[in-house]
Formats: sequence, structure tokens, C-alpha cells
Amino acid sequence: MSFNAEQVLIIGLGLIGGSLAKALKGGHFCRTVYGYDRDPDEMAKAVTMQVIDAAAIELESAVRAADVVVLAVPVKVMEQVLEQIAPWVRDETLITDVGSTKANLVDAAQRIFGRLPENFVPGHPIAGSEKSGVEAADASLFERHKVILTPGAETSALATRSIARMWQSTGAEVLQMEVGRHDEVLAATSHLPHLLAFSLVDTLAKDEENRDIFRYAAGGFRDFTRIAASDPTMWHDVSVANRDAILSQLDRYVEGLAVLRQAIAESESQTMLGIFTRAKAAREHFSRILTSTSYSQNMNNNNVVFRALPGGSVSGSIRVPGDKSISHRSIMLGSLADGITEVTGFLEGEDSLATLQAFRDMGVVIEGPHQGEVKIYGVGLHGLQAPPGPLYVGNSGTSIRLLSGLLAAQAFDTELSGDESLSKRPMERVAKPLRAMGAVIESAEGGRPPLKIKGGQRLKGIDYDMPMASAQVKSCLMLAGLYAEGDTSVSEPAPTRDHTERMLKGFGYDVEQQGNKVTVRSGGTLKAGAIDVPADISSATFFLVAAAITPGSDLTLEHVGINPTRIGIINILRLMGTDLELLNEREVGGEPVADIRVRYAPLKGIQVPEDQVPLAIDEFPALFIAAACAEGETVVTGAEELRVKESDRIQSMVDGLKALGADIEGTPDGAIIRGGRLQGGEVFSHGDHRIAMSFAVASLCAEGEIKINDCANVATSFPGFIELAQQVGIKVVKEED
Ligand code: S3P
Repeated sequence: MSFNAEQVLIIGLGLIGGSLAKALKGGHFCRTVYGYDRDPDEMAKAVTMQVIDAAAIELESAVRAADVVVLAVPVKVMEQVLEQIAPWVRDETLITDVGSTKANLVDAAQRIFGRLPENFVPGHPIAGSEKSGVEAADASLFERHKVILTPGAETSALATRSIARMWQSTGAEVLQMEVGRHDEVLAATSHLPHLLAFSLVDTLAKDEENRDIFRYAAGGFRDFTRIAASDPTMWHDVSVANRDAILSQLDRYVEGLAVLRQAIAESESQTMLGIFTRAKAAREHFSRILTSTSYSQNMNNNNVVFRALPGGSVSGSIRVPGDKSISHRSIMLGSLADGITEVTGFLEGEDSLATLQAFRDMGVVIEGPHQGEVKIYGVGLHGLQAPPGPLYVGNSGTSIRLLSGLLAAQAFDTELSGDESLSKRPMERVAKPLRAMGAVIESAEGGRPPLKIKGGQRLKGIDYDMPMASAQVKSCLMLAGLYAEGDTSVSEPAPTRDHTERMLKGFGYDVEQQGNKVTVRSGGTLKAGAIDVPADISSATFFLVAAAITPGSDLTLEHVGINPTRIGIINILRLMGTDLELLNEREVGGEPVADIRVRYAPLKGIQVPEDQVPLAIDEFPALFIAAACAEGETVVTGAEELRVKESDRIQSMVDGLKALGADIEGTPDGAIIRGGRLQGGEVFSHGDHRIAMSFAVASLCAEGEIKINDCANVATSFPGFIELAQQVGIKVVKEED
């Protein structure tokens, strides 16, 4: 069934009513827009200014004839108008409104009609301006703005769909919410800021010196108080209508302000910085959501596409961003340390920022990041506080797995959740041994996120034989072990990255390492220090491979971490014939670092030694590209872990390389790749950053353009990838579909 609107009647031709009329008049939702206003002059103005098609001189007949009636009058008179028109509304007429509070109107409708009419769909456009009146009507006012509809259980689905269609025709995005929730949310996000602006200006204006104050008032005052020029009657009515929700938000605000006041009075710098840094981060996050520039939960649905042209070259000297694993750990251990930890070279990618935000949410004051610098005011091993809600860690497996160990030992409950890709990844590998330590963890079906972790448990150390080579599982258990009774030991089937062990020792914490077994015990403390994060060898890999497959290349990657547990890529590329030199080897803060120079030499296929697999676990997507460009066959085995990364990396690479004409076969634990030239084509990253970047590099040995879909997640580990790739000579550009 569909609904056709011939006539829409808008009652109340103020800013919102007028703007809606104007937008509908220019669209296809209805044939005629009638307008009614109790002020005949406003109505006449609306006709002259062509805001409406015609004025409804007589309200009763206009209501009887209308297919849709929109109440756009002030909140206070909404009820009165509804009562007045109720006898004239036909059964099939749809009624909606634009009021910024909803419970009061829904109650009124129930009283007036004896029940909520099924064709009544309460609505609220989140748009406006400090201007009022029909002169301010603007047909584009609702474009890309949200409109909230609050239909009840009685409301007909067709009515809701039709009103949604009306708003969509003005360019708005329509959402639905329950009435009570709407009033609560609006009290916090709209009503409170308006009331604060009114109150601040009123307070300052009373001041004897107000002329001076206003004369010198610059940007801050102007930005904060713009909305104090809004319509006073409207805000009076909103304050009355949404009294309870507004009062509870005002109380919260007054409490927060009292904390800030006290911090200023007592010169408590850390409290002040805590408030300011948390607010700054939240505001920046909010701006990114508003402009949709960032990858963030359900917000950026645009398909970011990379287009890579064949025939690039590779030369120069570059430094890739900081190591992701070390960046995560710097925030975690810095937060748990006593004292201030200053980090340089921090990776400002979405994954490590998710960890940073999680600790801010648990009350840790963290300044930055600013150009890779972060200052963490450690709270000690027992200083974390309960976060205000679930901790959302986006795409980051390292965040969720390491945090689950730490959180299992805290006094408070927590919930960890992530994006679509993370929500498919296995968490039993950490939940199971943590439960054996006494942790109480609930996961979603199949042991997937979200994880609900119960606080207040006394953990006991275990001696755990890890069934897979995973640094995330090992680190998770070590973090839990910092709080557990007795020793916590983890044995690994093959060496995995040891950044947690190194950083704990760097912070003065005792870690025992014997063969493949690492042991920690509780009772120690972490002493804050400085951390210099080297460039990430996993990010450098895309350029190492780029140089390795491109004749004539000569590229240096500066200050790259060459921890022995991470250098599988160097060993494997050398085995394949790459000319690769480590220069200027040094140690920085407990981690070995070097500049890596790569020059082209012909590549040959190899059987990749299985002992190198864990040491190059994140590098396989790029290695598959090297293998596809090498002479002969490359065989990868023992790499089944690749199937549970940000995507099933074996499948993603097999599908993509096949689309480019490569000779590749997937196996349960690896692949067989026969080298040759690649053609152009279209591939999919499946939301996996490393797959996206690998195919960008593949263009260097391809014969046509490669279009790579779904690349937004490159921001998780490698912000600035496209610019650096272009700088060294790869012909790749980023577009948004
Ligand atoms: C990481 C460990 C590895 C790796 C990931 C980062 C870490 O995961 O793939 O990118 O920082 O501990 P696994 O432990 O699952 O192998």
C-alpha cells in the first residue's frame, strides 16, 4: 500500500513551518502546500514570498481537505491547536508535528482522541537557526539534518513511512526513537546548551561593566552564545514542556561545573587537564562524525576507493608511522604506571586511538596526541575507574584482546565492543584462559564480541600452554597476571612479538623469560618513563615489497623497528632474492631500530619457512603480492591464523589476485602462488587495511589499473599511506564513491 499526498497543510508559518513549506513546494511529495497562521500578515507574507502555494483562509475546511496536517506551532499551543482541529481530521489524514518535546504532545493527543490515533506520527526536525519568522524560511534548512520520528505501538507503519518520505523529500535523514528517549536526548544535546547560553549572556549582561565585557568579547563568547539570540517564547515553552528531563541534565551539568570550580580553586592541574583533554577528544570525535571524515561506528558508509595505475617507480627515503603494537602498549602501561609517561612517535591511527580513548574513558588523563606526542598521567595499577558506558574499540583486535585481560582483574564491570569486522573475530582464545584464572566473561554467540566482563573477581595465576602463536593472547594473560595471585606463565608454540615483555621491563616490572615461557606475578609497580615508538615494520612492509618488485628501485625506510620477533618479512624477502640492507642499527628504549635500504633484484619463488610465519604474521598480504611478481612458485604453509585476522586474509588475497589474473590457489593454512605479470582489475579489501594497501602496491607490477574497494580502514594502521605512496612514486589516488 502506498500513500499519495495531494494537499499538505502546515499550521504555523514560523521558521520551521515556513522552511518545510518551501522545501515541499519545490519537491515531489505533494501537489499543493497550504499554509495557515493565526497572524494574517504572516500568511500574506508567506504567499508573496512564495513559501506556500496558497493560504488556508478558513482552518476547518483546510483541515478537512488536507491529506497531511503538520503542526508547526510553538510547543505551548500545540495541544490547543490539536484540540481545535481534532473534530475536522478525517480518518485517513496523517498528522505530524515539529515540536522539540514529544511526551507532552503524545499525552495531549491521547487525551484529546481518547487513544493515540494510528495516523499520528510525532516528529522533530533537528534543524533551526537563531532567526525566526517566515522571512527566515529556507528550503535547504533540513538538508543533511536529522529528523526524529517517535511513532508509538499504535501508529500505523504506513503513516510512519509516509511522514518519513515527506521529510526525506526535503533532504533530511529520518530516524526513529522512543518518545521518552527522545526527550532525554534532546534535553542533553539541545535544551541544556540553549539554556546555558541564555543564562551566561543574562549573567554577563547584568554586570556593571557589561559594555566592556561585550566590547572585548571575542570568538569564544560569540561561539558559545550564538544560540542565546533564539526565540525566547519558544525556549520558555520547551523548558516547561520538558521540565523533568531538563532538570536532570542541569543537575548533571552543575555537578560537573562544581568539580571544575574546585579544581581551579585548588589548582588541581590534573583534574583540569582531565576535563579539558576528555572534552577536546570528545568534541573532535563528534566533529568527525558530523563531517563523516573519519572511519567511525556506522557513520562513514562511503566506499573509499583506491585507484592504482600501472607503471610507477619507487625511490627516496621515508619514515612510515609509528608501530601499532608498541603504540597500544604505551597507552596501556603508561596508564597503569605511577608517574607521567611521555610517548613520541605514537601512531595516530584509529586502532591505537581506540585504546587511548578507552583509557580516557576509564579516567586516565592523556594529553595529545599531537604530532606523535602523547603525555599520559599514570593512575597506577589500581587507579582505573569504571567507564561511563561500553568501551568501543572499532576494528582493533589488539585493543579488545589485551584490554580483556586487564579488565578481567578490575573492580568494575565493563563491556568491550567493536565494528563489524571485529565482531566476527574469535575471542574464546582469550576468554577461555582468563576464565581458568577466575575471570567472569560473557561473549556473544560463537565466542565473538561484545565481551561483558564482570569486575570484582579474584584472579589466580595459571600456567598456560597457548594452542596458537599469538602475542595478543600472551599479552592479555600477562596483563591479567599483574593482578593474579601467584605466578602467571604462558608458553608459546613459536616466538611471537615480545613488546609487552620489553615494555614491562622498561617500566621496571619483573618479567621472567625462560625458553618459550614467560612469567609475571602481581605485587609490583610500573614506573613511568619515556617511550620512543619506532616506525612500524608492518607498515614499512608495503614499501619494502614495492621496492622489491619494481626494477630500478632504491628506497630507504627510516627508523624502523627490527625487533627479532617481527623481522620475518626481512628474512623472507632476502630468501626471495631482495637486495636489503640494515643501516645505522641502534637500540631505542629497549627496541632495536634500523634504517632499511632496499634495491631491486629479481625475485624468485620460495617455500616460506614455517618458523618465519609468526614473525611475519601481518606481512602476508604484501608477501603474496611479492610472490605473484616473482619467478616460480611460492608456497605458504602453517599460516592458518591468517584466516582470523581483520578479514580471512588467505581468501581475500586469493580472490583479489585471481581477479588480477594471477595463478594462485588457497590452501587451508596458506597458498600456492605461481609468479607472473598481473593484469588490471577490480578487487575488494573486505574492510581489511592490509589487503587494501597490498593491492595498491601490486599496481607496480600490473598491466592495467587496479580499483580497490572498501579502503576506509587503512586509517586504522596507516594514516597518510596514499601521500607517502605517491611520494615514493606509486601512482595511486584515493576517491570516495
Ligand atoms: C599483535 C599481534 C598479532 C598481530 C596484530 C598485533 C599485537 O596478532 O597480527 O596485528 O600487537 O600483539 P595475534 O596475536 O592474533 O597473532
